[in-house]
Amino acid sequence: MGEHVNAVPAGVVSLADHEAHARGRLDASAWAYFSGGAGDESTLRENLEAWRRLELLPRVLRPLAGGHTRVRLLGREWPHPILIAPMAYQRLAHPDGELAMAVAAAALGAGLVLSTQASAPLADVARLVLADADRGPLWFQLYLQPDRGFTRELVARAEAAGYEALVVTVDAPVNGARDRERRAGFRLPPGIDAVNLRGLSAPLARPPGPGRSALFDGLLADAPGWDDIQWLRARTRLPILLKGILRADDARQAIAAGAGGIIVSNHGGRTLDTVPATARLLPAVVDAVAGASPVLVDGGIRRGTDVLKALALGADAVLIGRPALYGLANAGANGVAHVIRLLRDELEIAMALTGIATLDQAADALAPAG
Ligand code: FNR
Ligand code: LAC
Repeated sequence: MGEHVNAVPAGVVSLADHEAHARGRLDASAWAYFSGGAGDESTLRENLEAWRRLELLPRVLRPLAGGHTRVRLLGREWPHPILIAPMAYQRLAHPDGELAMAVAAAALGAGLVLSTQASAPLADVARLVLADADRGPLWFQLYLQPDRGFTRELVARAEAAGYEALVVTVDAPVNGARDRERRAGFRLPPGIDAVNLRGLSAPLARPPGPGRSALFDGLLADAPGWDDIQWLRARTRLPILLKGILRADDARQAIAAGAGGIIVSNHGGRTLDTVPATARLLPAVVDAVAGASPVLVDGGIRRGTDVLKALALGADAVLIGRPALYGLANAGANGVAHVIRLLRDELEIAMALTGIATLDQAADALAPAG
């Protein structure tokens, strides 16, 4: 990786700075793919705003000695509650792509969730993470493929490589209407593809015919359902987290179907526009799950104060998406490490200034709604 090591640019001191800098480095079409959302991008904007609107209210003169950011997740203790969200095609951001992302996440003790549509082999990514004694969790994000035989084989490969959980994304049976991406004419450049899906046969083309829908009678004819979660559960020893749960009823159904965790997510505003911000939906899901499994959240987390607020609302951990890609675009593994360190440093500062020594007290930091 030596030839691609870059320094973090001077003056970049926040995740927003990373974003602004990355915009100038990425070509217009990659920028549109990474930064864009669905429709009018209301959900994309609202995700950030909703965290910002929540207020903190410090307690003073509380004991802070021995404070720490450690959390327990799926039976193990981790140094802090920040994971890198699954994101497709990271070699669009930097030649080292997922490998640089993995090295940085592991070095900083952040969790890593590798996308089904990663542009690097899943076993190479796992090897880099597992080699680091101070690493965070290592999970594989799964899009259930219409070809269930291929899905089984993919899961077996992830298990063999050492992934510790499967994150099944359930909010994107089809891509959202991403106007910015289409306007920019985004296409994958030659040499970047979903390498872990090679050999997957294309879904059967079913000509829609009169009165039939190319979407419902085509792509969605084989879309996964709740019975497929049970099917998967019977075929893996790994815990299954469902990513993209937004409602209390679906959260209860997920637990009933044997999910070992829930990720409250609206796909970073990339699927259905005008869905409420995840900050707003999180408390009802936490209530419904009632401690039966961990609840994580993503979407718009850009500050340590956002992380503290998410834990105050009952999340066990958070995932960050785009900011990690921007760090990667700016300075490869160094840039990702910088993004994680900034967020974690900000989290510690926010804890200290609200009088919170450990994250199990996070709820005390929130100002009453009003
Ligand atoms: C994503 N996301 C995503 N999710 C998933 O389950 N599988 C995937 O392959 C991808 N790919 C992907 C690509 C890009 C470019 C982005 C920006 C996002 C969604 C991602 O995991 C996460 O839910 C959001 O990115 C979180 O929101 P923020 O932090 O980007 O605001
Ligand atoms: C996306 C798909 C890959 O959001 O999940 O781009």
